[in-house]
Amino acid sequence: MLRLNDAVEKALSEMILTSEQILAIAGRFCLAMREGLAGRESSLKMRPSYLDKPTGQETGTYAAIDFGGTNIRVMRVKLMGGGRYEIERASSFKVFHAEGRQIFAKMASELKKVLVPGEPIALGHVFSFPFQQNQVNQAILLHWTKEIKIPGVEGEDVTRLLKEALEIEGMGYVIPRAVLNDTVGTYLTFAYQEPAAGIASICGTGHNSCCLCLTAGQERIVNLESGNFDPLTQTHYDRLLDEQAETPGQQRLEKMVGGRYLGELFRLMSSDCLDSPWQAYEIRTEDLMGLLDPRARQSFKALKATPEDLVVLGRIARALIKRAACLTAATYLGMLHYMDPTEGRHYAVGIDGSLYQHNALFAEQLNYILRRYSRQVAGIHGVGQGSVLGAAIAAALTMR
Ligand code: GLC
Repeated sequence: MLRLNDAVEKALSEMILTSEQILAIAGRFCLAMREGLAGRESSLKMRPSYLDKPTGQETGTYAAIDFGGTNIRVMRVKLMGGGRYEIERASSFKVFHAEGRQIFAKMASELKKVLVPGEPIALGHVFSFPFQQNQVNQAILLHWTKEIKIPGVEGEDVTRLLKEALEIEGMGYVIPRAVLNDTVGTYLTFAYQEPAAGIASICGTGHNSCCLCLTAGQERIVNLESGNFDPLTQTHYDRLLDEQAETPGQQRLEKMVGGRYLGELFRLMSSDCLDSPWQAYEIRTEDLMGLLDPRARQSFKALKATPEDLVVLGRIARALIKRAACLTAATYLGMLHYMDPTEGRHYAVGIDGSLYQHNALFAEQLNYILRRYSRQVAGIHGVGQGSVLGAAIAAALTMR
């Protein structure tokens, strides 16, 4: 039977977070938010969004783009008010290896398929990467994350690249109005239906959150870029993954909780104990589900392992998922405390992303920790289609 070696056992025990550790992380997170907002050195970028909270009464038909990472989705969306909407037409394509301009050209041509030719339409664009923004319709990409590298976009304004592509495609009738992070998109979709919305988060391939913050006397939706949160105690395998990643030293939290990385952490740990047949990043986080569910274990990635071995591997998968949920919950606790240190106000938390939507262990653990340590939670909800609908709502908000 497969035996875990001392290094893996050590990492597994380091991954169990005690109450004290969870609360200490929440405290450090809250402090990092304060420092970031004050413009001081912080691992949190704290980017204000230039968008107001929706009332739920926004109406009209809009074009929406969702540039998340693996896929790009385009849509024609009708907002009907009262929190209701309809996706009229949609299309998507996988991000391919090419120059930035070619990707934007493909985005324009896909968009053409879902819109009515010549009909003027306002567009909202979700761009799920860290960017610098001085107005709602501008986004200068600071750097790529989630192991994506498309040449010719860093340092550029993505709205300008999009406008150029639309012009070349003869689509001057499409008017880009707003560009926003996917957490902000999720927040808008959530708040469109839920007045108590305070926090929105993505727990998917990448990880990040936004929340309502008081800045310069005004309540604004602020994108934390919390995937970059540091300092966190890393295990030997976290350090190994970080050293081999595209951006060593960056996105430390995301590398412990993001779907892009959990499968790879699993691979690094299990390869230390068995002759692993897997290539780097070959194990996807979805594959780990097979190890968590006893009925699905045998289907785990073409591995000649006995049922007992699979139980042992399941320990690694469980520990990784549980730690991801505890760390994520700790950041929400930090946000809730920042938003109201007297802890008297209640906020609802909206979450989009495959990890939350499809991994029951992750969702359960996250809910459990949040409710156990905070009395401020008005509800925790999955927000499907969060970012792309948010793009349409953002376009509507700019028409006010
Ligand atoms: C990465 C990006 C961030 C995005 C998150 C979720 O962390 O830097 O902007 O919100 O992934 O997609």
